[in-house]
Formats: sequence, structure tokens, C-alpha cells
Amino acid sequence: MKISIIGAGNVGSLAAMRIAADGLGDVLLIDIVKGLALGKALDLEDARPLLKSNYSIKGSDDIAQVADSDIVVVTAGLARKPGMTREELLLKNAQILKDVCLKIKELAQNAIVVIVTNPLDIMTFYALKVTGFKPNKLFGMGISLDTARFINLIAQELHLPATDIEALVMGAHGEGMLPLPSFAKVKGVKLDEFISDDKIKSLINNTVNRGAQIVANLGTGSAFFAPSAAIAAIVKTIVKDEKRTIGLCSYLNGQYGIKDTCIGVPCRLGKNGIEQIVELDLSKEELAVLTKSAAAVAQATSQILA
Ligand code: LAC
Repeated sequence: MKISIIGAGNVGSLAAMRIAADGLGDVLLIDIVKGLALGKALDLEDARPLLKSNYSIKGSDDIAQVADSDIVVVTAGLARKPGMTREELLLKNAQILKDVCLKIKELAQNAIVVIVTNPLDIMTFYALKVTGFKPNKLFGMGISLDTARFINLIAQELHLPATDIEALVMGAHGEGMLPLPSFAKVKGVKLDEFISDDKIKSLINNTVNRGAQIVANLGTGSAFFAPSAAIAAIVKTIVKDEKRTIGLCSYLNGQYGIKDTCIGVPCRLGKNGIEQIVELDLSKEELAVLTKSAAAVAQATSQILA
């Protein structure tokens, strides 16, 4: 199994490290900056005797090396600066993504492609348009990260291990994010049995703002530990054909009453990519947020394509 990660910044190189260390396949790290991916791959290789693991990692500045990949993770793009929204990254990252996607189309047309570049939902829809790939084989990472953040914040509030909490975030990986407290449970018991509506509201706000909070604290760059863990979880689900339900930015064609755009929804994922989009019974208000976010993705993408 050849797994290529495009972009050797913090998210890409940590994802490469996690995927390699988990023994999920032969990992190739690629970055346009000369020597960056190779340098990081050599460093990761040196850790093998210390970790007592024979994982496979290579690095290159030549995108042609992506040829015949089974999975390609695209993290290439600029990260948010403090105060910058994900949407402001739009045009800059669209150009980067287009060049990368055309190469994937030319050299690895059977790959499953996971988009991580922000603004994530727009970039995912744009990548689908650029490649013409089947939507079950090209999707975005976003809301599995947001779901992890929501679960973490609930766990902290309740002083419980995160593994006791089940929760879900749908919608855009950005301002149109939709954390769903109605689907949150603590060992099977609904969240509102444990905390007040006001507390739940503040957990939702903190989840939506978590990425920006991290950006503000870091000063330069954005989050990478949890994003890379989310990528590794997606890759593992594919490689091991786990058929788990996981939040992904997926193309919708009628599900949730939404057509011809991409947005974050729960998906069953396996070795062939998305096997099923899970349709939950959302309230009218929740559905309205999802529909609005999806329309914004379609509109922004058509602007880039125009
Ligand atoms: C975040 C960036 C990576 O949410 O989108 O932290």
C-alpha cells in the first residue's frame, strides 16, 4: 500500500509520522520546497531503531513520485495567520490545490484522495471538479477533527475520559460548523442530562473557535497534532477496511436534501472509500445550518471556477 502525503509542513509531516509508525503502508512525503520532505523523511527514518519499528518512509520534492499511490493525502497550502479566516486562504490555496490535483489525476487516477487544505469544504469540492474523480474516492478530512475537539471539550467539562463520550459535528470545517449536542452521549446517556443548555452552548462555541484559539496562541501556523491524528485515523480506516462511520467532507447528491456540493457528514468508510453517507434525523434548525453551509461551499467553489 503506497500512501503519499503532499505537503511536508507540520500537518503533513506529523501525519506521515503517525501513518508510518502505525505500519499502514509505504509512506511518501512530498513537498515542493527543495529538500524539505527528504530531510524530514531521513529524520523519521533515523527514529526506526529507537522505536524498534521497520516502517517505510521516503521523501521527495518531485510530485511525479506520487505515481501509483493507493492513498494520497493533500495538506499542501498556506496555513491561517492569526485573525485570518479559513475562507481568506481560498484563492491562494485553490491554485496550489489545482496543480497538485492535476498531477494526481495524471499519475494516480485510482487513488483515494483525502483533502486537508483549507478552506476545507471548498477545496474538497474544487478538487472533485478539477479531477473529475468519483466522490466516494475523493473527500475531505475536516469534521472528524472538529468532532474530536467537541468530544475533548465535553470530556474536560465533565471530568471524564474522552473515551466515555460519543458526539458528532457536521457541516463546514469553518464558520458553518454544526456541533450536534442532540447526538452527544456519555456512556449512552444524553448530554443534556449532565449539563445545562448554557454550558452546552459554550461548549459549541468553544468547539467552533478551537482552531482559531490554537492559531492565536501559536502566533504562526495552525493546529497540527490533532489534525494529523484525524488524518491517520481516516487512513487507518481505509487501509484496514474498517467500515467505521467517520465524519468526512463528502459530495452530496440528494442526501439531507442537498445537491451537488460538498459538506461534512457522517460516512461509512472502507477500502473503496466512502461506502455510504449516513443520513441522520436532524431537526429543522440543524438542517437549515447544514443547507446554508453547503450552499456557501457551492457558491465559493463556482467563484473559483468562474
Ligand atoms: C484547524 C485548521 C487546521 O481547524 O483548520 O485547526
